[in-house]
Amino acid sequence: MTCRICGSSTETILDLGSSPPANSLLASPTDYARPFPLVLEHCGRCQNLQLRDCLTAADLYRDYLYVTPDSPQLQAHYELLLRALTAERYVEPTSFVLEIGSNVGMFLRYLQPRVRKVLGIDPAANICRMATDSGIDTICDFFEPRSAELIENAHGKPSIIVARHCLAHNPDPHLLISAAASLLTDAAYLVIENAYALNTVQQNEFDQVYHEHMFYFSIQSMSALLGFHGLHLVNALLAPVHGGSIVFVAKRRCAGDYAVPAVEALLRRERASLTPHVFSQFRSATESIRASLRSLVHGLVADGKLIYTYGATAKGNTLLNYTGLTHEQIPLCADSTPVKQGKYLPQSLIRVVPEQEALATPPDYFLLTAWNYRDEIIAKVRQSGTVRSRFIVPVPHVEVV
Ligand code: TYD
Repeated sequence: MTCRICGSSTETILDLGSSPPANSLLASPTDYARPFPLVLEHCGRCQNLQLRDCLTAADLYRDYLYVTPDSPQLQAHYELLLRALTAERYVEPTSFVLEIGSNVGMFLRYLQPRVRKVLGIDPAANICRMATDSGIDTICDFFEPRSAELIENAHGKPSIIVARHCLAHNPDPHLLISAAASLLTDAAYLVIENAYALNTVQQNEFDQVYHEHMFYFSIQSMSALLGFHGLHLVNALLAPVHGGSIVFVAKRRCAGDYAVPAVEALLRRERASLTPHVFSQFRSATESIRASLRSLVHGLVADGKLIYTYGATAKGNTLLNYTGLTHEQIPLCADSTPVKQGKYLPQSLIRVVPEQEALATPPDYFLLTAWNYRDEIIAKVRQSGTVRSRFIVPVPHVEVV
């Protein structure tokens, strides 16, 4: 196929079969969500990793179920992120911060007392209402050149544009970057946070591959993308959230700009690590996780053990559907998000219940489909007084803790 960043031809590195869109939870177990292929490809020219088959953004985000969880880990991340952005003076008390894909406005709520002005833009109507109700001015739209112009007319140009975990959620990343570039002055910054391709591949996070994740960015592919729009990277930092994320800091290319040494150091690591050999190890590890998890779960069920999943995550749906585990082995999924509760995971048809309900009849094992919140969730379960449940962690290798 064709690289959606640079136009070169791509090669398949991982095929996970087909799965319904990961956030299309079902109202009833008799509802049907159509599966689409989950195939990951690599571009040898710009090192882009992309999903081969993309659904349209309108299909994915019209009515959206992902609500940023109110998590201590995320609050700690916002603090770290703001500290790093402030230390380099990318953000200042006089800043106007525009956040793209701002969801319910959790990050902007954290920033609001610390900067001059915050504004969010998010395409999901149900989510925008929640943000606006909580006091965060949020435009309900896709961020593209048309809406960027409306923002400029109504609010002026921002000092910093933040796009956290959303650039990869659109089949054409050029659209968002060109819209951002149209709003950036020479002194303004574009901050993009995403799952880091190196973590995805090296830590066997195959479950990060789902229809909303259409790109797995690296320094190399991000530099290539930015270059098409007159932008370049000046900084990059790594963060542990979501299984290993990278925060790219970009700006309009100007005389006198320089990139901090961290960018070159990451680039060197990537060149040694995003290789055909590593992709083939990733593929083998993925197959081996499927075999181990299937055999563990089927063995436990045969021994009469009760298993629930913890976290109605998008990645959990990839994991369950790729391994072929369903409500027949795992009757319930615990999740804190009210809009997910009472619904059914697509294809596996596992019913989502509030955490308290799952903890009222604690299972022998929780399969941690939200493994990125592993310590937080284990602590929460223990604090509820549940001591007997053990936890199955699926990546980087199947482990029972
Ligand atoms: P996330 O890891 O952001 O997943 P993905 O991007 O793969 O969808 O989602 C976390 C999910 O886990 C979300 O549905 C809320 C749920 N959750 C709990 O149920 N309890 C918790 O303590 C935490 C931190 C999350």
